[in-house]
Amino acid sequence: MLIALDQAVSRLQGGEIVAIATETVYGLAARIDRPRAIDEIFFRKRRPQSNPLIIHLQYFEQISRYLSPAFENERELLSLSQAFWPGPLTLVLPVGDSSIPDSVRAGLPTAAFRIPAHPLARDLLQQTGPLVAPSANLSGRPSPTNPEHVEIDFGIDFPILDGGPCSSGLESTILGWYLGKPHLMRKGAIGHKELERVLGKPLFEIGGKAVQCPGCSSMHYAPRARLITDPNQLWHIGVVVGFEDRAYKTKGNARLFSLGSIQDDLRAARQLFAILRSLDAMGIEEAFVDLDLPKWGLWPAICDRLTRASAR
Ligand code: TXA
Ligand code: MG
Repeated sequence: MLIALDQAVSRLQGGEIVAIATETVYGLAARIDRPRAIDEIFFRKRRPQSNPLIIHLQYFEQISRYLSPAFENERELLSLSQAFWPGPLTLVLPVGDSSIPDSVRAGLPTAAFRIPAHPLARDLLQQTGPLVAPSANLSGRPSPTNPEHVEIDFGIDFPILDGGPCSSGLESTILGWYLGKPHLMRKGAIGHKELERVLGKPLFEIGGKAVQCPGCSSMHYAPRARLITDPNQLWHIGVVVGFEDRAYKTKGNARLFSLGSIQDDLRAARQLFAILRSLDAMGIEEAFVDLDLPKWGLWPAICDRLTRASAR
């Protein structure tokens, strides 16, 4: 059910949850000071309590209220925020005393923050204050990049603040600091080279217990259709998630679910989750996924999502 901005505001103020448009994917939002609504997010998404939520803010200064005084990387925080906010970057920061409910942080001493760029999300945040929002999909399913995807997972009566199709289509890139060094915790809509350019130093990759992103488990983003990545099976499967400028040899005519051109990472990112969901809509049971992807731009993030989607 599509609702207008003023309705979304009054529902959120009243302690309800609402799906909202952002430039990355749709989010399932609640006010940070409405604990029952936050519990409902976990319940409706079937999300484990051990997986913390991102706090969405309207402007940078709102962070200072939460940030731990022990945080030592303020200059890097400032550079990143100036370069990428508002936008698809999430920063994991140590938080102080905390006005952030335990459930939002999953008991961690850190919390994740993002300032979205979508104009509708910004108008909303101006009226509601900080909102927590995970992606508006059932846990494990592909993230929603348009209102229809939200309706498929939560029903046609679920309230959705409609901002059209998401312009990025991949979730935000997540970065955090560990032992004073910046670490990439989730690949996403901003490529790691862009982050390194702004930081002026290499990013460490996630690894080891201390810098885990609890939600980045191997199985994720999966359609019901089985996704096969072994090229030897392409011939007999016949259904391909791939690219229009590549040839796929199969026993009959290959049925292509196209991510666009192998030259165009932005377009592939924008379509990725819609294509995965369309396999289910078309009743496909098995598809080969072309994972022979370039290493530049958003391709590593796209490869990450497709690899997780094919994990069983
Ligand atoms: O683009 C996005 O980030 C979207 C839109 C709605 O903003 N949101 C999103 O939320 O992707 P979600 O919940 O699907 O993914 C958030 C990820 C999870 O993997 C979670 O484990 C991680 O962020 N996360 C949240 N707080 C964290 C923390 N304190 N430390 C490490 N990882 C954290
Ligand atoms: Mg998610």
